[in-house]
Formats: sequence, C-alpha cells, structure tokens
Amino acid sequence: MKPIQVGLLGIGTVGRGTFEVLRRNQEEIRRRAGRGIEITMVADLDVARAASIVGDGVAVVADARAVIANPDIDIVVELIGGYGIAKTLVLEAIAAGKHVVTANKALLAVHGTEIFAAASAQGVMVAFEAAVAGGIPIIKALREGLTANRIQWIAGIINGTTNFILSEMRDKGLDFDLVLKEAQRLGYAETDPTFDIEGVDAAHKATLMSAIAFGIPVQFDKAYVEGITQLGAQDIKYAEQLGYRIKLLGITKRAAGGVELRVHPTLIPAKRLIANVEGAMNAVVVHGDAVGPTLYYGKGAGAEPTASAVIADLVDVTRLHTADPHQRVPHLAFQPDAMSDLPV
Ligand code: NDP
Ligand code: HSE
Repeated sequence: MKPIQVGLLGIGTVGRGTFEVLRRNQEEIRRRAGRGIEITMVADLDVARAASIVGDGVAVVADARAVIANPDIDIVVELIGGYGIAKTLVLEAIAAGKHVVTANKALLAVHGTEIFAAASAQGVMVAFEAAVAGGIPIIKALREGLTANRIQWIAGIINGTTNFILSEMRDKGLDFDLVLKEAQRLGYAETDPTFDIEGVDAAHKATLMSAIAFGIPVQFDKAYVEGITQLGAQDIKYAEQLGYRIKLLGITKRAAGGVELRVHPTLIPAKRLIANVEGAMNAVVVHGDAVGPTLYYGKGAGAEPTASAVIADLVDVTRLHTADPHQRVPHLAFQPDAMSDLPV
C-alpha cells in the first residue's frame, strides 16, 4: 500500500526530532502502522536550514499553506507552537480535510473547544499525545488504559524546564538564570520561557489532562497558576533541611462542587518517589477508583522524547485512516460528558 503522506509545519527542536526518528525507525514504524509513514513536505520560515535537515526528496517551502493545499498530504503535523499562526493553520488544515497531529498544548488548552468542534464537523482526527508530558504516553493512559476508572485526582511534574531548574539549583547551587539558559540550549524551554517559569505551560497540560479525565471542556482560564519565579536558593535549602523537596506540581481533582485545577510549587517529603524526579524528567500520578494510584515517569521535554509521542499519534491516525479512509472517523479528542456543567 502507498505510504501515508505527512506534511510537517515547523522543523525546529521537535520537528527535527520527529523527522529523524521517523527516518531512523521507519521499518519498525511501517510494520506497526500497517503501512509506511513518510514526511513528504516541510514548511519552515528558514528554508535553507530545513532543507539541510531533510535532504533531497522532501519538498521544503516557506509557506505552510502550500502544505495544507497539497492534495496528496493526508496528515498535517503542526510543530510551530503558540496560539497565533498555528491556530489559523490548524483550522485551515482541518477545513481542508486533513488529520492533524500537534504537540501544541498552549493552542489546545486555550482554543481546544473550537478546534475539536471543527475536527468533529469535518470527520478528521486531532491527536496530541506530545502536548502533555513529552514522551510519556499519558493521554493514551487516561483515555485507554484507565478507561474503566472514575478518576479521582491527577498530580504531576509536567514541566521539564522548571524541574530541571529546581534540580540544578538544589544539587549544584547554580543560579536560576544560568540554569534557565541551559534549559533553553537543551531545547526544553518554550519559545517564550515565561510560560515555563510562571507555571503557564504546566497549567496548559493540566487543563488538557483535566478535560480528558473528568469529561469537562478545556478551561485554561479557570486554572490557578503560580510558577517558580518567587522561589530563591534559600527556600530550596530550608525545604531540604526540613526533609522536603520543592516541586512545581500540576494538580486536578474531583472536589465537592466541581473540579480543582491548579499549578503551584509544592513541598513534598523527600522520601516520596515523585520528590526524586530530577532534571527534565516528568512524573504523573493518576488515581482511579478501581486501580488506585498509578505512576508514569519519563522524559518530559526535548527533541526525541517528544518525537516519540508525535510518531505514536502518527501511527494511531494512520491505522484509523487506513481502516476506512472514506468513512468519517471519530477524532481523537474528548467529548465533554455529564460532568461538563461542573465548575472548575
Ligand atoms: P521550535 O521553536 O524549536 O520550532 C518551531 C519551528 O517552527 C521553528 O523552526 C520556526 O522557524 C518554525 N516556524 C515558526 N513560524 C512558522 C511558520 N509560520 N511556518 C512554518 N514554520 C514556522 O519549537 P519546538 O520544536 O521546541 O516546539 C514546537 C511545539 O512543540 C510547540 O508547540 C511546543 O510547545 C511543543 N513542545 C515542545 C517540546 C520541547 O521539548 N521542545 C516538548 C513538548 C511539546 P524559526 O526558528 O525560523 O522561527
Ligand atoms: N517547555 C516544556 C517543558 C516542553 O519544559 O516541559 C515540554 O512540553
């Protein structure tokens, strides 16, 4: 069968990782997906850099709309980021009947309702495993592995940049600004790193997990958000002396009158597993009524860990699309259910 054709919008840190992992593991991925998955067209503002990454045989353009307009492209992968042009392009891709894979948690946490409704109307899929906790398959766990459960709460370290900063400040006594620069160099931080350090990125991710776990609409505007910029070296030291670690946690839980959704620095006893999650690693605890607590751990940021999740979505979309390309397939997003009237 002819390979499914993918158009990539943005070949920065994650885009490059996605291109390279897909090429390196193409044979295994083809077997698992049931057919080949090929990136045949790439759009990036820096055409020369993009061309040097992809080499011959892949069309490179500056205008992302040329990818969306290409009738041969089945899936558009949006890896530009932000709510600006990325939102316009995702909606245009959906309107053109393309499935969309994205790692853009900011876009979905703020405009998810509109985007999922558009996808549903068009009968296309929007998949976003990479948007939460990088390489950890937490969306799949919530949606599939834990589907029998009434989820009671979720708490996690879901921002690699801030966990890296807190770890390096504690272990090496390094200065906040210096470690943030290193996180940027390593490709962990957002284009605007205030999203990381002010807790906004973690709140975007917590918003998405909350919506899936509790069947409520995405409501980022209702989240309580506090980052790590008010923490100093002394706070970290005192916490340590008292037997605690400070971690930036994203928390969402069922409460009496609705759903709690919050991000803030939290003191955690040093002997707890989650207190020992270091560097850019992420960890998410999900508590279901049947299964009890479950823990998911792995790299939460960076090129290849995130590419792992992007490609998992590509495989899922390819399987579903290939099963019956002429039938309107359900999009992978969630539908608000009976709890949707509960306030956050
Ligand atoms: P980068 O900034 O590294 O890459 C974005 C790329 O998009 C750049 O090459 C940029 O070009 C290009 N671009 C910007 N505007 C356009 C446009 N209009 N048309 C085509 N290309 C464009 O970001 P990341 O790869 O780090 O992140 C991508 C997405 O993945 C974001 O949504 C981010 O939140 C998410 N994500 C990132 C993770 C990470 O660890 N980095 C982890 C999980 C999710 P130029 O550089 O020339 O501006
Ligand atoms: N900036 C994000 C982080 C990237 O540091 O976790 C992964 O979503």
